[in-house]
Order: sequence, then structure tokens, then C-alpha cells
Amino acid sequence: MEGLVLSGLGRRFGNVDAVLDVDLALNPGEFVSLLGPSGCGKTTTLRMIAGFIDPTSGTISLNGRILSSPTGSIPPEKRGMSMIFQSYAIWPHMTVAENVAFGLKLRKLHTDEIRKRVGEILEVVQLNALAERYPAELSGGQQQRVALARAVVVRPSVLLLDEPLSNLDANLREEMRFEIRRIHDEFKITSVYVTHDQSEAMVTSDRIAVMNQGRIEQVDEPYKLYTKPRTRFVANFIGRTNFLSGRKENNSIAFDGFSLPSEVLGIAGTAGRDVAVSVRPQSLRLCAKEPIAPGQITLRGKVVERAFLGETWDYMFASEESMRLRVVAPPSDVFEIGAEAWVQLDPSQMVPIS
Ligand SMILES: Nc1ncnc2c1ncn2[C@@H]1O[C@H](COP(=O)(O)OP(=O)(O)OP(=O)(O)O)[C@@H](O)[C@H]1O
Ligand SMILES: [Mg+2]
Repeated sequence: MEGLVLSGLGRRFGNVDAVLDVDLALNPGEFVSLLGPSGCGKTTTLRMIAGFIDPTSGTISLNGRILSSPTGSIPPEKRGMSMIFQSYAIWPHMTVAENVAFGLKLRKLHTDEIRKRVGEILEVVQLNALAERYPAELSGGQQQRVALARAVVVRPSVLLLDEPLSNLDANLREEMRFEIRRIHDEFKITSVYVTHDQSEAMVTSDRIAVMNQGRIEQVDEPYKLYTKPRTRFVANFIGRTNFLSGRKENNSIAFDGFSLPSEVLGIAGTAGRDVAVSVRPQSLRLCAKEPIAPGQITLRGKVVERAFLGETWDYMFASEESMRLRVVAPPSDVFEIGAEAWVQLDPSQMVPIS
């Protein structure tokens, strides 16, 4: 099979399963993020792909060739991959151009070819004018670009990035996300990007694999992951959400204060079962009067908390049945704490989760 394939991949340290049963297939040229909280196994997965550690179960293959398995692995230097770490360590005693040329010299490319490739990549990362500077004379973002250029210029089979932006300040991090994606669009190198920052993953990636306690919970495009999370963990990790608990009845689902036909939510199964749905705060509408909205659920209650965040209001609404819902509203929708209000809920925005 073409591309990078992790199959039943696991890594145990002592009696801890750092990575467990990971299946993930990247198409050639695809950019996939491993996203999850600290300790969920992202770096361990990346280090197995790089060949720094061996799996205790499962395999890693690239274009049909097995690279890693519990019985033997191809060493990192024979995988043709590039890896960028959090501390992007570029050589302090070499200029920008020398840093970028280093890997090409190791590969014994012809001097003219090296000059050509270094020139090209420095143009892409917009460091042409700084080619003769030393790292100490560069900003953090410029140093990070050198690290990127150095990793990409050798045309690696796979590019691995482990939280490469976490040393930068917030503004620069935001800028560099787009830079990383732009460079990816230029070279289309199969890439695995490790981060615990959901926006970073959403900006850079074709698909995101959300990890929790060593396992992948869901792999999807950013939009799908946000709008159709499959588990409570994913719904909570990608943005914020409200969880509604209900109970399956014969042909309907009963929530506090309303019920919906089972088929509207696509929930099957036996009566009496507990069900949970996720509803994003942005998809709820807070109204001062009872809304006339056919096909929508309306709940009466009041505003119990609020915070003004500049671009939005963040309200907490409590229904008469004391269901609490977080609602995000535009700055012009001002409600006082204690004000009577209605929440309008669109059933098509309710996503069943497990
Ligand atoms: N060499 C090791 N020996 C023992 N346990 C390890 C080793 N490396 C990692 N672990 C454990 O494996 C689990 C996963 O670690 P990993 O570094 O992959 O997490 P991570 O998702 O990269 O976290 P972070 O976001 O904090 O970098 C953790 O519980 C960690 O303590
Ligand atoms: Mg890590």
C-alpha cells in the first residue's frame, strides 16, 4: 500500500501502554496531526515512525515496505525522514545558508545542485536576505524557519514535527502555522505533526488524529471532527461543547423538557438506554422573546452567568428544567444576568456521541 501505514501499533514501557492499537494510514503527500493532551502517546508514536524506538506490537510501513516491527526495524538514518523537535537546534556556528546546506552536503550532492536547492528553499521560507546571518542574529520565528528549510530541503520521504512551535510566542505561533501549511502546499511531503493545540492542528492538517491514553479516538478532516465528533473526549477536546443526556424510549429520545423522534438523531437501540448528544455553544440561539421556529426546540429559562470576550458573549443559560447550556452570542446580543430568555436548539446540530 502506498503511503505511511501504522497498523495495530503499540508501545509498552514496563507495565504502561504508552501507545495502543494505533491504526493510521497517510496517503502520499498528506499532512496529518496527532492531537491530544500531555502523555497521550503522541511523541512515542512519532519516535516509532522515525525509528528511534521500536514498537512492542504492530508494524509501520512506507509504500509497502515494513520499517518497524517488534522483530526488527530499519534504523532512523536509513528511513530518509526528517524530524523537527520542539527545541529546533540549528547549528550556532553556521550561517543560515550553511545550516540549510548541511544535510545536502552529507548526502554528497554536487555543489551547484546544493546552491540551487538552498536558494529555492530560502526563497520559500523568505530568508533569502538573511542567508549569511548566524542563528544568534535571528528572531525565534526566523530560526524556526531555518529548521523547517533544513528539514524540507533534503526532500525527506516523511516529515515529522514534534510541537515545533511551542517555543514561540503566541503571535508568532499563529503566523508560523500558516507558514508550515504554505510550505507543505509547495512541497507536498507526507507529514506527521504532533501538537496539543487544536487550532494549530486545524490550520495545518488535512486530517487530525485525536489521541487519548495511547489510542486514536477519531481521525477526520478538521471540519468533520468539529461538527461530527464521535466521542465525548473528542467533542470536548476540539472546541467546547454542551452535553445533553437523554434516555431512549420506544421511538423517541427523552431529554429534560423535550423529546425528539429517534430517527431525527439517528439513534437506534433498545428502550431504556442512556444516550448523550453534543451541541456546540455557537449553534444555540439565545432569544429575549419566545421564538417562533417550526422544527426547532425552544427552552424557557434564564441567563445565570455571562462573560464578554470581545468578539462574543459567553452565556450560561439554565432552563426551567434546570438543564444548563453554554451559549455563544454576538456582542450585540446583550442579556443581563437573571434575565428571562429562551434558547432555540436546532435538532440537526445535535450530535450523538459515545
Ligand atoms: N522512555 C520511556 N519510559 C517509560 N515511560 C515512557 C517513556 N517515554 C514515554 N513514556 C510514557 O508514555 C506515555 C506517553 O508519553 P509521550 O511522550 O508519548 O506523550 P505525549 O503525548 O508526547 O505528551 P506531551 O504532550 O507531554 O509531550 C507517558 O505516560 C510517558 O510517561
Ligand atoms: Mg510529546
